[in-house]
Order: sequence, then C-alpha cells, then structure tokens
Amino acid sequence: MNNQENIVILGIESSCDDTSAAVIQNGVIRSNEVAGQAVHKAYGGVVPELASRAHQQNIIPVVDQAIKKAQISRDEISAIAFTRGPGLLGSLLVGTSFAKGFALASGIPLIEINHLQGHVLAHFIKENENDESQPQFPFLCLLVSGGNSQIIIVRDYLDMEVIGQTIDDAAGEAFDKCAKVIGLPYPGGPLIDKLAKEGNPEAFKFSEPKIPGLDYSFSGLKTSFLYFIRDNIKDNPDFVEENKSDICASIQHTIIKVLMAKLKRAAKETGIKEIAVAGGVSANSGLREALQEEAEKREWKLHIPKFDYTTDNAAMIAITGYYKYQKGEFVGQDVAPFARMVINND
Ligand code: KG4
Repeated sequence: MNNQENIVILGIESSCDDTSAAVIQNGVIRSNEVAGQAVHKAYGGVVPELASRAHQQNIIPVVDQAIKKAQISRDEISAIAFTRGPGLLGSLLVGTSFAKGFALASGIPLIEINHLQGHVLAHFIKENENDESQPQFPFLCLLVSGGNSQIIIVRDYLDMEVIGQTIDDAAGEAFDKCAKVIGLPYPGGPLIDKLAKEGNPEAFKFSEPKIPGLDYSFSGLKTSFLYFIRDNIKDNPDFVEENKSDICASIQHTIIKVLMAKLKRAAKETGIKEIAVAGGVSANSGLREALQEEAEKREWKLHIPKFDYTTDNAAMIAITGYYKYQKGEFVGQDVAPFARMVINND
C-alpha cells in the first residue's frame, strides 16, 4: 500500500544541460536545486557529450543539496521520479541510472516522467499549503521551449492532448538561431528579449508562415531572417551593430505574433478560456505582455509560471511524480530513457 497521507517525491531532471533535483511534499515545493553547465558557452550550443559528463559530476551534490534544503531525511522519500525523455540520450541516461540506483537502494518506487508533461504540470506546484492558484480543467497550455512548440488541451493531470505543434523548428530554436546570426551567444532567447526592450518592433518586417490548422513552423522565418541580415550587411557592414535593438524587437514581435495567432485560434475553436503558458520561452517579457493583453480582451484566465519553473527544473518532474504516485504508476528497473517522446503516447 502506498502511503497517501504524506507523499514526498524526489524529482530528477537531466534532459539537456541543467542538472536538477527537487523535493515536493504533498504537492508543496520543499526544494528545487539547479546546476547549469557553463561548459557549452564556448560552442554556441549544447554539446551532448560534455552535457552528460557534467551531469555525472553534478548529480550527487545537487540531489544532496535538494534533500538538505527540503529538511527531510532520505527515509521519508516515498518515491523517486525522473525525466525519461524527450532529451539528449546521454544526459537522460545519467538521471535515469541515478534514479534506478536510488530507488533500488532505498526500496522505494520508481516513476518515469515525460519532460513535456512536466512543463505543463509545473502550474500545479504549490508554494505553500494555502496556494490555490492552480488552473482549472480543462485548460489550454502553450508549451514553448528550445525543443518544442505545442498547444495542448489539458483535461486532467495526466490526460493531455496535443492539438497543434511545430512541424520544424521550435520557438526557442528560432530565438536562438536568429540570435546566432547577429552574433549573440547561446542561448540567445533571453538576450533578444533584453535588447528588444530598447527597440522598435515595427522597424523591420519578416514573412510569417502560412501553416494550416493549429500547427506552427519557424524554419522559414529563420531563413528569411538570415537572408535579411546577409543582404543588409552587403550594403552596410555595420548594419547589425547600428540596428541591434530594432532587429531584436522586430524578430521577437514576429515570433510572438505567430505564437499568439494559433493560440487565439485554439481558444476560439475549443471555447476554452483558461489559458496557461509553459517552457523556457514563457520567460519572454514580450510574450507575457501579449498574453496579458489578449487575456484582458478575451476574458481569459491566464496562468504564467513562476520564472524558476519555466526553464528545465526538477520541481516540475517531482509534481508530475506526485500525481503518478497517487495512481500507482510505477516502472521497473528495466526502464530505459527515450530521446523522443510525445505527450499523446502516454
Ligand atoms: O524549456 P527550456 O529551458 O529548455 C528546453 O527544454 O528546451 O527552454 C530553453 C529555451 C531556449 O531556446 C532559450 O533561448 C529560450 O528557452 N528562452 C527564451 C527566454 N528565456 C529562455 N526565449 C525568449 N525570451 C526569453 N526571455
């Protein structure tokens, strides 16, 4: 029998370049430790082999710190939840192997988590026992990260359906690739966001994708941005330096316009007014403003996650583990990570 009275979940996240461990007790956050990896900065993107090595170095101290900060003892932990995928296989292997070993040594259940589902359920992490700010079902979640751009109908904690998604690049990838074209370091999304604040969003126009239904596409936009910069540099080698803020504001404005158009359409088609946003790009200040504006206009009830829960973190893995624990959804020691995993196949 699971103890349903006091459920303490240790969550582990290692899908990309952040090693994270968190403790959630009865849905309330107790700790959320994240160790980033500066080693990738010099390469303009995440180097998978370096990421797995850094995870190996970080995982034990990060878990140790998460347990200490939560002020719990190891034998209070009810189960360990880990990211099974999607992500970089070598990175996932580190978290998966650690979780298996921990479960075996502690005699507790092992829970596998879909990272994307974790991003969505980050909205249910309670800051304290009286926190009642969670979304009501059903709600729509715009999940925008470095690897995904999806619109999801969330009917229950573990009942989700993707109704629209990118057919090529993700929104975060578009931010990062455009940033690279103008010489900004990886990850470029937050830098574009910062520079855009000083620029004119209408200064330059980029062609917007015309994709049917609720799906997204960002690869054409990225290519048109590349040609735009290349052509302008031919005439003026200082074009980027002289117009950096306007370039950033304009490309950010276009990406947000594309994201919002399909979200508005999804809300209209489904009649759902409870709207949430998740994933790294949800930290973008322009996107947050656009969402607020639409929410006022369309009477949406908007849910924007706390900054710490937008990028990769183990708190979202632990909260998903909390709901799976209550359903007894455990896996055996033969579980293997998956580089590719979608929401609908759960
Ligand atoms: O969710 P996340 O941390 O990792 C994935 O699972 O992909 O998302 C990372 C992505 C990167 O592409 C990064 O550039 C983008 O989120 N990002 C932003 C901002 N902060 C992070 N993009 C635009 N504006 C931001 N403020």
